[in-house]
Amino acid sequence: MSRIKKAVIPAAGFGTRFLPATKATPKEMLPIVDKPTIQYIVEEALASGIEEILIISGHAKRAIEDHFDSAPSLERELEEKGKEDLLAIVRETADINVHYIRQKKMRGLGDAILCAKSFMAGESFAVLLGDDVVYADPQKGEKPALRQLIDIYDSYGGSVLGCQQVAPDKVSAYGIVAGREIGTSKLMKVSDMIEKPEIQEAPSNIAVLGRYIISPAVFELLEHTPPGKGGEIQLTDALKKLASIEPVWAYCFDGKRYDVGDKLGFLKATVEYALRRDDLGVKFREYLADLMKE
Ligand code: G1P
Repeated sequence: MSRIKKAVIPAAGFGTRFLPATKATPKEMLPIVDKPTIQYIVEEALASGIEEILIISGHAKRAIEDHFDSAPSLERELEEKGKEDLLAIVRETADINVHYIRQKKMRGLGDAILCAKSFMAGESFAVLLGDDVVYADPQKGEKPALRQLIDIYDSYGGSVLGCQQVAPDKVSAYGIVAGREIGTSKLMKVSDMIEKPEIQEAPSNIAVLGRYIISPAVFELLEHTPPGKGGEIQLTDALKKLASIEPVWAYCFDGKRYDVGDKLGFLKATVEYALRRDDLGVKFREYLADLMKE
């Protein structure tokens, strides 16, 4: 049994890239087909063996708390109308064990993770970023991305960063790692990390894509991490420091990852998740084919 039982999902950001949709609605609640993006993330965590989830919440994020709560009047209505399938969908999200802390000042991802310090109580923990949704294809036997990281942690210990290669012109959008390959080209021991480097200073094109297993030693490092890229306290800077003290692994996970923090990435996720649906896929594919002929 793995010791990784707790996960943190930072969700305090303003989501300005999706204004006006995010003026009154948290970006984490924007649906891919009919499910809020944060529910995909929470489901991945649970499918990976996580038992307790801490959401770092903030101003105007109440809808997230309501989503993972019971909804008595809605449940009563569905019960009376005999809509058992919908009732199950509504109840499923209420049964998930979610905790919240509010980040009062937006000082960056590193600062958001620091808010989880007391909740993690000295244990290693998982981080899932809501902008990265990863589809694990059951037909290819793919495990959830976070589960793949936990398996690496169970074998090697330390901290594990979920990575994939990105196109060279995309390195400036991510935390980029450098290191030495261990056995397979999918696993590296991290020796350097740079947050959003210019293409000419990037040590590789291996990007950290929103999944982490982190040792609790990171908290003390975060407390002493000065603002970095963009004037924010960067998790990447603390992890680079951590790599000089303890092993930090970068693992290239399997699965199709969507950047749902970006409008085009969000559209791609919406289309592809709809195409995979039993109830929508066939008709939607026909519609897209017809549309392409116009
Ligand atoms: C954050 C991290 C970055 C990581 C990225 C993954 O950046 O700071 O290191 O590569 O998430 O999506 P953000 O996209 O939140 O600016």
